[in-house]
Amino acid sequence: MAHRYFPFRFSPMGLRGLEPSATLVINERVNDMWRQGQWVYHLGFGESRFPVHPKIAQALRENAYQHQYLPSLGVRELREKIAEFYEERLNIPAMPEHIIVGPGSKALIYALLLALDGELMLPTPSWVSYQPQAHLVGKRVNWIPASPEDGWELMLSAMTEAVDQARTAWGNPGIVLLNSPNNPTGRMLPLSFLESFAQYAREQGLAVISDEIYGLVEHGSKKHRSIARYYPEGTVVLGGLSKHLSLGGWRLGVAIFPPNRAGAEVLRAVRTIASETWSATTAPVQFAALIAYGMDSDVWDYIRLCTRLHALRTHYLWRNLVEMGVRVPEPEGAFYLFPDFARWREPLARIGVITDAQLAMFLLDRYQLATLPGSVFGAPPQALALRLSSSYLDMEDEKHAQAILDAVMKGVDDETLMREFHPHTNGAIAQFRKFIADLELDHSPAPAREPVATL
Ligand SMILES: Cc1ncc(COP(=O)(O)O)c(C=O)c1O
Repeated sequence: MAHRYFPFRFSPMGLRGLEPSATLVINERVNDMWRQGQWVYHLGFGESRFPVHPKIAQALRENAYQHQYLPSLGVRELREKIAEFYEERLNIPAMPEHIIVGPGSKALIYALLLALDGELMLPTPSWVSYQPQAHLVGKRVNWIPASPEDGWELMLSAMTEAVDQARTAWGNPGIVLLNSPNNPTGRMLPLSFLESFAQYAREQGLAVISDEIYGLVEHGSKKHRSIARYYPEGTVVLGGLSKHLSLGGWRLGVAIFPPNRAGAEVLRAVRTIASETWSATTAPVQFAALIAYGMDSDVWDYIRLCTRLHALRTHYLWRNLVEMGVRVPEPEGAFYLFPDFARWREPLARIGVITDAQLAMFLLDRYQLATLPGSVFGAPPQALALRLSSSYLDMEDEKHAQAILDAVMKGVDDETLMREFHPHTNGAIAQFRKFIADLELDHSPAPAREPVATL
């Protein structure tokens, strides 16, 4: 037999990172459906899609000539602006010397996980990339359980139990990753939790990575508060421009380190990783970010407007699901919902849908609803939870996003805006209504085809 020449052999790390995820399978299916010209209501994309603010776009154009390598920490002037911004707008103690600018907060989280010793404690549910990143750097992940009956709220008792359990198993649970406002639930950590957790983290000497990328996308019912206000000496705060300014593709994230010696040491490690990998964040983007982090009142008004619209669109979806009898925590920030369909476990089982991945595939195949299964966020598959994002529908392209903004500028009221400028959101809601009505009447379409069972 001829020897098959294969020049690429995977390292254990490469293999750890190459597990096919349910997200990938769903996305491939959505792409197939689109290629075949089928309609899909895409509630799976978690991307803020408002247009780039004209002043920021102008700043990028004006800085196109900036082509030098910049310092790995980021330009000093930008770090000064970021420190002021965080102190004033988010009430977080920040010093320019303790800030690094990176190509998205995702890369900075990865660098932090690489730099820090200890196993990772992850609340259930958590954003899809934390666990794979931990695995890529060879870290063990310990999940902190939560339940849909409590709205997936993170309880300190569950955290302390999970830490104790990890220690009993000779583990070294040194890092806690918090994310508030949360992807996928849209919930914020309450003040009472932040206060009691700070005390616990201090006693235990835990390092906290606080992912606050949605910190400025607040729905108004609650103010975002950073754990850094209560545990400044042990918290690294992550943020960036991707969400509140819809600049995900520009890849600019920030990390703010504790204003102490320990903070300086961790920053030194992350800076070393930065300088040996991505070198520095793109120069024109950093200079344009001076406007984004400056206190320009037009930019600030735009952030408030986009946030208000995220809140309106997310709450509209939430209210409709609640009216259908779906259990779904009320969102307080970001643009996500995390409903579960356990109430319909029996009729779903009768059509061969037992896990959340099967449910996601079933909704896609039969109702053209693209969602993400809760298990990719660490929820138990049998909880039948799904993550829905409100950010994509009716803002599929620049033209539609602009039409929504223009309508608001012309004074169209919220009700009319949702009724007349959101045909796809309303279409998705109608599909969910039909799905639930079918389940309740046991009129569900014939048992799902084979792929449902294979996920
Ligand atoms: C919770 C969470 N953290 C981090 C990120 C990554 O953001 P960035 O664009 O800054 O890398 C995302 C993006 O979806 C996210 O949802």
